[in-house]
Amino acid sequence: MEKYITLANGVKMPILGLGTFKASEGKSCYEACLEALKIGYRHIDTAMGYGNEESVGKAIKDSGVKREDIFVTTKLYPSKIGYKSAKVNLEESLKRLGLDYVDLYLIHWPSANDKVNIHTWQAFEELYDAGLTRAIGVSNFNINHLDHLLPNVRIKPMIDQVELHPYLPQFPLAKYLDDKGICLESYGPFAKGMVFEDETLKKLAVKYNKPVANIVTRWGIERNIVMIPKSVTLDRIVSNFDVFSFSLTKEDIQIIDKLNCGKRLYTDPNNCPFCPMEEYEICD
Ligand SMILES: NC(=O)c1ccc[n+]([C@@H]2O[C@H](COP(=O)([O-])OP(=O)(O)OC[C@H]3O[C@@H](n4cnc5c(N)ncnc54)[C@H](OP(=O)(O)O)[C@@H]3O)[C@@H](O)[C@H]2O)c1
Repeated sequence: MEKYITLANGVKMPILGLGTFKASEGKSCYEACLEALKIGYRHIDTAMGYGNEESVGKAIKDSGVKREDIFVTTKLYPSKIGYKSAKVNLEESLKRLGLDYVDLYLIHWPSANDKVNIHTWQAFEELYDAGLTRAIGVSNFNINHLDHLLPNVRIKPMIDQVELHPYLPQFPLAKYLDDKGICLESYGPFAKGMVFEDETLKKLAVKYNKPVANIVTRWGIERNIVMIPKSVTLDRIVSNFDVFSFSLTKEDIQIIDKLNCGKRLYTDPNNCPFCPMEEYEICD
């Protein structure tokens, strides 16, 4: 059984999805998405920046699964941030995906210039009003970015997708988003492979007779966080989906919570090379 979270606008989003960062356009991404849809995944996370939207779209079409049963996320390319380009780029993403609408459109990275984020968000609100996306959100927005954005929006972002794994559980951001009614989505759940070497997680894997990957994904799900582990390996795609047949005890969730050491393995959104102040002039 799929499990869903409900976004602020009532849209239901599968809490487990397939990530596709570094899933190469062509056979690799296509087969991964097709296999995922075949075994029951109903949520695929892509981005203009991953260069694989055509393969994702082709897999959706060939899967035979009804469009309305699949949740598709794409993202505005970081250096394309801006009001006009948000619109143009969603149109282009839809063409590559072969879809009439996406389920979630995200600002992939915040600009260091808050005015750019606000102006880009206005385009997102208009795209949502026009029915080109069923939900809108942000990615890599920290509390400081949201503090500047939220007082200036008509429609609040429905989700924030950020780096989140046992070594960076994002507790302060999670509390902030919860207070604002914004859902939290994790990327990089396996911490660039670190989780697979972790003795605490390996012990839990033995205890539950599940792979470490499932322990970590289940930990996120228990915290009501959307999880999108990526794999292009068919047996991993299958095994990563087995996270609804067991649950973790409260004590074990706390044991994983204690692995928090504030370790960031991806780019820091507050020190981001993709987010120069002058982007706005480039794009609009
Ligand atoms: N918004 C953003 O800025 C942002 C940034 C990064 C990622 N994301 C999204 O989040 C998704 C997940 O993040 P991620 O792809 O960076 O990292 P991830 O899902 O934590 O890890 C993916 C890596 O783990 C391997 N793997 C998957 N399942 C495994 C298993 N059961 N056992 C051992 N290894 C396993 C994969 O290898 P194989 O593929 O070779 O099996 C791949 O190398 C992305 O794909 C993307 O959709 C978003």
